Amino acid sequence: MQEKVYEVPADWAKRAYVDEARYREMYEASIRDPEAFWDEHGRRIDWFTPYEKVKNVSYAPGEVSIRWFEDGVTNVAYNCIDRHLETRGDQTAIIWEGDDPSESRLITYRELHDEVCRFANVLRNRGVEKGDRVTIYMPMIPEAAFAMLACARLGAIHSVVFGGFSPDSLAGRIEDCASKVVITADEGLRGGRKVPLKANVDAAIAKVGGVDHVVVVRRTGADVAMEPGRDVWYHEAAALVTSECPCEPMEAEDPLFILYTSGSTGKPKGVLHTTGGYLVYASMTHQYVFDYHDGDIFWCTADVGWVTGHSYILYGPLANGATTLMFEGVPNYPDNSRFWRVIDKHQVNIFYTAPTAIRALMQAGDEPVKKTSRASLRLLGSVGEPINPEAWEWYYRVVGDGRCPIVDTWWQTETGGILISPLPGAIALKPGSATRPFFGVKPEIVDAEGKVLEGATEGNLCIADSWPGQMRTVYGDHQRFMDTYFATYPGKYFTGDGCRRDADGYYWITGRVDDVINVSGHRMGTAEVESALVAHAKVSEAAVVGYPHDIKGQGIYAYVTLMAGEEPTEELRKELVQWVRKEIGPIASPDLVQFAPNLPKTRSGKIMRRILRKIAEDEFSNLGDTSTLADPSVVDDLIHNRQNKR
Ligand code: PRX
Repeated sequence: MQEKVYEVPADWAKRAYVDEARYREMYEASIRDPEAFWDEHGRRIDWFTPYEKVKNVSYAPGEVSIRWFEDGVTNVAYNCIDRHLETRGDQTAIIWEGDDPSESRLITYRELHDEVCRFANVLRNRGVEKGDRVTIYMPMIPEAAFAMLACARLGAIHSVVFGGFSPDSLAGRIEDCASKVVITADEGLRGGRKVPLKANVDAAIAKVGGVDHVVVVRRTGADVAMEPGRDVWYHEAAALVTSECPCEPMEAEDPLFILYTSGSTGKPKGVLHTTGGYLVYASMTHQYVFDYHDGDIFWCTADVGWVTGHSYILYGPLANGATTLMFEGVPNYPDNSRFWRVIDKHQVNIFYTAPTAIRALMQAGDEPVKKTSRASLRLLGSVGEPINPEAWEWYYRVVGDGRCPIVDTWWQTETGGILISPLPGAIALKPGSATRPFFGVKPEIVDAEGKVLEGATEGNLCIADSWPGQMRTVYGDHQRFMDTYFATYPGKYFTGDGCRRDADGYYWITGRVDDVINVSGHRMGTAEVESALVAHAKVSEAAVVGYPHDIKGQGIYAYVTLMAGEEPTEELRKELVQWVRKEIGPIASPDLVQFAPNLPKTRSGKIMRRILRKIAEDEFSNLGDTSTLADPSVVDDLIHNRQNKR
């Protein structure tokens, strides 16, 4: 197949911060002498006490420890707000676009300062101090940003839980980090539909307890239950406090936030990011990858419940004094032109979204795009999953009118910021490739034994050395951190992704190589969906795998063995889908449920997922070695009853 290459447009090479020569120079310097490189770039944020030590990292088995700028003192909210007040007090910091197209709001840096200080004072009056954990379960409204920055201002550690998660999922996350305070809204609003956030918080707290205060922001005005002594309306509490609140001095390695993410085993892990290195890395990648210049309007469509929202709606852009757009709604409400209309309405220059959204909108055809102008657009971005070349081409040709480079950014919750991506003025594009590593990032492709493979090759993606945005630990479980990321290939960070490197040194992410699936850019542990299924009284066993899905990237395929005597009915199938929705959240709903009287197991009783994956992928002729199965006839039944893709 002829590979398409899109060269860097000449005007881009000229106006961007870095062209190809400069990229090579900076990249080589960052690898040759990381200390010197980050010593220079760490000063892009303001420090109350400047650091002298730059990097103090060990990836050694059993003693992994990651510290950056450790003797520096700073505060993230100070960097995202206060330091801009003198020069940009009246500049818009946040453009908020509501679910309803008639609703929007502009918030200047000065207003942001006042709002965040008020929010911080409300929290402080409820006993929140440096190091305390605060769970934020919010819709995409400005108060979600105020709440996060208020925590950062006080030195409290926020744990944002995506508003689409169920009460049970929320409860597990509140309990794991022992949050005493939860911030929520009466209801969320997405695509015209209401989400009962406060009721979900009540249900979660009823399950785990331990929460002393619930701060409730009024969004829809719904009538919600308020528990006296525990629950308070934000607008009432905010009316009683001032808009002055000092920033807590934070050491570079003091925690900033926890974000729960799925792995291949067990319950979600609390990924912990700290203060200094995270902010340096988020702001630097935001500037260079998106080539952000003063005055640009930047829009990242993620939810603040995911790391993309943390790093590229909030922290990276605000640290850079940017104007960042926050969108409450969904791409197809009120119609399929919504994204493009928002771009025209707010004159967005840089637009960053997920392949799943692009594929869904592509299905709606060119017309909803073409009836908008999009003349303000200069750069497009993609994140969350591999982008197939067809979707890339459509994004480039139809959305960007062939004028805008696309940065396909590969990274993870764990990495804090983008690790592999084109820089638009420096790196020629190949549709489907995340291209080249960012400064300071040293990717390695290894085989199953951990041997480092050179040149054009394919294998498992590791990163050989630390970068400032790297997660520091799993909250409360450093052993799990080391076991998950540093034990497979000792001395390296293992990403869990497969990857190919071509002859030009370009990286092509091929997807997860562990039992994690990526559904519409949402990361899901198959083990989590399985444990939700077996919690149902009629289910005896379940195995979940991913399969290729036209819009979602991967769909969820569940093989379910029922308890003896239970009938495999259509009704039960629907009930199980609803059950998983309720247990985890709508994003975990199985797309296909196959009733399987038996699952393929080895003689020692281990489920052979490889075979289940192949069947789900329709690769019947390529099942591999089935001779180790305890009962090979199981496979014929599974193939015979395979569910069809929708
Ligand atoms: O498999 C990779 C995929 O998403 C995983 C990380 O998921 P999460 O922690 O939820 O973070 C998503 C947003 C940063 C990765 O291990 N992934 C992310 N970006 C890309 C990608 N796969 C291919 N190309 C990408 N650009």
